[in-house]
Amino acid sequence: MASLEKTDTYNDKVVKQFTVMTVIWGIVGMLVGVIIASQLYWPALNFGLEWLSFGRLRPLHTNAVIFAFGGSALLGTSLFVVQRTCHVRLISDKLAAFVFWGYQAVIVLAAVTLPLGLTQSKEYAELIWPIDVLLAVVWVAYAVLFFGTIVKRKIPHIYVANWFYGAFIIAVALLHIVNSLAIPTSLTHSYPIYSGAVDAMVQWWYGHNAVGFFLTAGFLGMMYYFVPRQAGRPVYSYRLSIVHFWALIAIYMWAGPHHLHYTAIPDWAQSVGMVFSLVLLAPSWGGMINGMMTLSGAWHKLRTDPILKFLIVSLSFYGMSTFEGPMMSIKTVNALSHYTDWTIGHVHSGALGWVAMVSIGAVYMLIPRVVGLKEMFSTKLIDTHFWVHTIGVVLYTVSMWISGIGQGLMSRATNADGTLTYAFVEIVKFTYPYYLVRLLGGLLVLAGMFIMLYNMVKTLQQAKGEFAAPVLPVANQH
Ligand code: HEM
Ligand code: HEM
Repeated sequence: MASLEKTDTYNDKVVKQFTVMTVIWGIVGMLVGVIIASQLYWPALNFGLEWLSFGRLRPLHTNAVIFAFGGSALLGTSLFVVQRTCHVRLISDKLAAFVFWGYQAVIVLAAVTLPLGLTQSKEYAELIWPIDVLLAVVWVAYAVLFFGTIVKRKIPHIYVANWFYGAFIIAVALLHIVNSLAIPTSLTHSYPIYSGAVDAMVQWWYGHNAVGFFLTAGFLGMMYYFVPRQAGRPVYSYRLSIVHFWALIAIYMWAGPHHLHYTAIPDWAQSVGMVFSLVLLAPSWGGMINGMMTLSGAWHKLRTDPILKFLIVSLSFYGMSTFEGPMMSIKTVNALSHYTDWTIGHVHSGALGWVAMVSIGAVYMLIPRVVGLKEMFSTKLIDTHFWVHTIGVVLYTVSMWISGIGQGLMSRATNADGTLTYAFVEIVKFTYPYYLVRLLGGLLVLAGMFIMLYNMVKTLQQAKGEFAAPVLPVANQH
């Protein structure tokens, strides 16, 4: 009954809705990832249809995994965390429902328009202007819901997880609105207000901060609540969490030009991007160390708790990708890595290792709680998911690192007379087997998501049974 009371105290309905959709969109987005990975190995898999062509499915994949899967996880967990840490219910159930249904509407519209080829062609900001407007409205409603709840809080202190979620919400509003400014010419077409090199600068200010605030700050908010809670220990250093918060948000904003090395943007801007990226290593590792060290004195829990395994291994991937990123931002290293699969390896060590694993861990913890149960239907299946996922991520990233560095080295190899050692097709041939290994890794990750879906459905069924039990007439009970 205590759990029932809890559900009354807080709005857990919206949390449950977002949590369930995290798993569903995770499967959809990763399935599209597996399809495009297959197309890179068997190009004929587009069946000659433009809707299934790589160029249209790739943005569908990135939008689905980042904004539908990652976004649902972030919105769901933030609304759970803000209520629990402020000891108040969300300010409005109606607004919460609007945020949920509005956000899902944006995702469905994206899933329809992108395969149709309706796009603004800006990476991670492809959606056409009417959907951009809807997203801006939903996002502002989300901000009102989140910050309104913070204002109403019964606890004087604002827990650090909310700082990170808050920065994520404000920065994403700013990035989305500024980068999407456009002049519409029809319902499905518009021209950006920026042009040339300025457009590129604004786009990668947006793109890099999408990484910094959507794929990092928001998930750090998640980490700061779920790691201490699952470990049953306070955050290792509260002071470190505040220092690395301010350092992280101050530095991320300036690192964008590392996506534009050796392009038409001013050379000094590229160098600023590189230097800020190198400095970014420190606050990033501050967060990683703080999360990891929260486990000091409780490391033994890793042996028996697969949710904690997901959370802690996600932090190791976070540490790895935030070491790799600064290295890749050094101009001479970027000369090798850019235009190669190394970037794809880096992206997925961050995306599948950090973002997906911390979300999966948090969702496994949330599902039973929002339906009034203590734990998931099967802990063993969570453990199986952990191993299948981890092996999948390792196969994915390692194959892309080898393929990418090989591509870079082969592209720049020259003979004594100055001619290129390798023809383009030889580089493609070299890459080919690694695409099969990446596909295998992707299939494992996807299989893990299906295990999660099964476990979730069973848990939800179990919850229905438990809630139904007390209202059964006594005569019906054997
Ligand atoms: C089953 C899992 C997944 C598979 C098989 C997969 C596969 C792929 C493939 C084949 C590409 C295109 C690579 C290329 O153009 O050469 C790609 C790109 C991308 N994926 Fe995934 N992916 C998966 C999961 C994810 C997740 C969970 C995220 C984010 C949370 C993600 C984020 C991205 C991003 C951002 C790109 C674009 C990278 C760039 O432009 O540099 N992926 N993915
Ligand atoms: C200190 C932190 C990081 C730095 C300095 C950094 C730096 C970089 C650099 C230099 C590139 C290659 C740019 C290019 O050659 O075009 C890149 C690409 C990328 N990184 Fe990171 N990275 C960091 C962390 C992360 C994390 C944690 C994630 C994901 C969760 C991530 C996601 C991406 C994505 C999606 C791209 C591909 C962008 C594109 O071209 O489409 N990065 N990053």
